[in-house]
Amino acid sequence: MPNIPLRNGGPKARIAVIPGDGIGREVTPAALQVIRAATAKRSRPLEFVEFDWGADKYLRENVSLPEGAVEMLRDEFDAILFGALGDPRVPSNQHAADILLGLRFKLDLYINARPAELLHPRLTPLRDRTPADINLMVFRENTEGLYVGVGGFFKKGTPEEIAVQEDVNSRKGVERIIRHAFDYARSHSRCSAGFHASASDPAMPFDRKPLRLCMSDKSNALTFAHDLWQRVFQSVRAEYPDVDSRHLYIDALAMELVRDPSQFDVIVTCNLFGDIISDLAAQLAGGLGLAPSANIHPGRTSLFEPVHGSAPNIAGKGIANPFGAVLASGILLEFLGWHEESAVLKQSVKSALRENITTPDLGGAKSTLEVAHYLSNYAATHS
Ligand code: NAD
Ligand code: IPM
Ligand code: MN
Repeated sequence: MPNIPLRNGGPKARIAVIPGDGIGREVTPAALQVIRAATAKRSRPLEFVEFDWGADKYLRENVSLPEGAVEMLRDEFDAILFGALGDPRVPSNQHAADILLGLRFKLDLYINARPAELLHPRLTPLRDRTPADINLMVFRENTEGLYVGVGGFFKKGTPEEIAVQEDVNSRKGVERIIRHAFDYARSHSRCSAGFHASASDPAMPFDRKPLRLCMSDKSNALTFAHDLWQRVFQSVRAEYPDVDSRHLYIDALAMELVRDPSQFDVIVTCNLFGDIISDLAAQLAGGLGLAPSANIHPGRTSLFEPVHGSAPNIAGKGIANPFGAVLASGILLEFLGWHEESAVLKQSVKSALRENITTPDLGGAKSTLEVAHYLSNYAATHS
């Protein structure tokens, strides 16, 4: 049957590519080049189909997410490689809301996984911290909360104006992200070098301990929405007595992350707090330029992107850091079940960091193209 995707380790994969706006259009081709290099020798069929959705199309045709796009992605593709959206010519950010939030919601990608791993000691702004101290996973609820767009204006434009933005939290939505975080904590372990190993990994230490989990909310002030988070957390944690779990208010979590990031392995929180805390965690590990992100619904078409935005301040200069997009592509390959190819992508970034083949945001003098060239050469010779 044509166009039926084969997911999770199948021999063939179809990937939709949405470069988007600004530096999304620079880092996405770079990431594609590295994926191609890492997968070429194994001659595993990968098909890429590019879509020009973004600010240009929106301004030209008044189309953001085309009709039928969600169904097409859901039914005909295994994964989506996404760049970034955002353009100063669209101050409302409407196209980004329609496309990015639209895909997260309509594909029901309820897990936003944002790892922050220190890949080289010189990258952290914190004093005396090593890669063993900074390796954590933020699980951000990705389909509800303050992002659902429920609300409105009253007396708009008048001195009495009122603006309302509703925080929508369902028991189902809260439970599935908290449960996913516990399952991840239970099935992974922190090795001596700091990295998270999966329970199915043969290198997993024998006396392994699950990862530590921290649920974060603001239930002391948000007495309805986050009371639900508290109650769901208490009931789910009772099913995972083997997982060392605790709670921190989000303000305290922000402070503790900077004071001592080594306390954290897995953080689970709501949509808005996850957005903010994942930028903070990204900076602890070197900045937005190398932070990857995965928007996942297990078993369904999922979306992979760098954490960063379209960076209009550097767009078009050829100096955008492609590491975030390449590491996100690594998570995409892992999602498809291509573990070796995924590992090669991460190794290529680590090698570039060791050799100081980096863009200016990381103190280097290389262009996006030069870094991509190094990474794809590395991937081609190590796969
Ligand atoms: P941003 O992530 O685009 O940029 C923040 C800062 O980090 C800038 O100084 C930028 O130059 C730098 N930076 C980011 N990525 C970099 C990279 N790969 N290499 C080098 N430097 C990099 O965030 P912003 O400035 O707040 O937002 C710009 C636009 O992007 C806005 O329209 C925003 O809504 C949008 N945005 C989109 C996404 C997304 O598509 N997922 C994410 C965040 C922001
Ligand atoms: C992100 C971005 C988006 C978000 C914006 C562009 C709506 O900041 O992916 O982190 O807030 O989710
Ligand atoms: Mn963000």
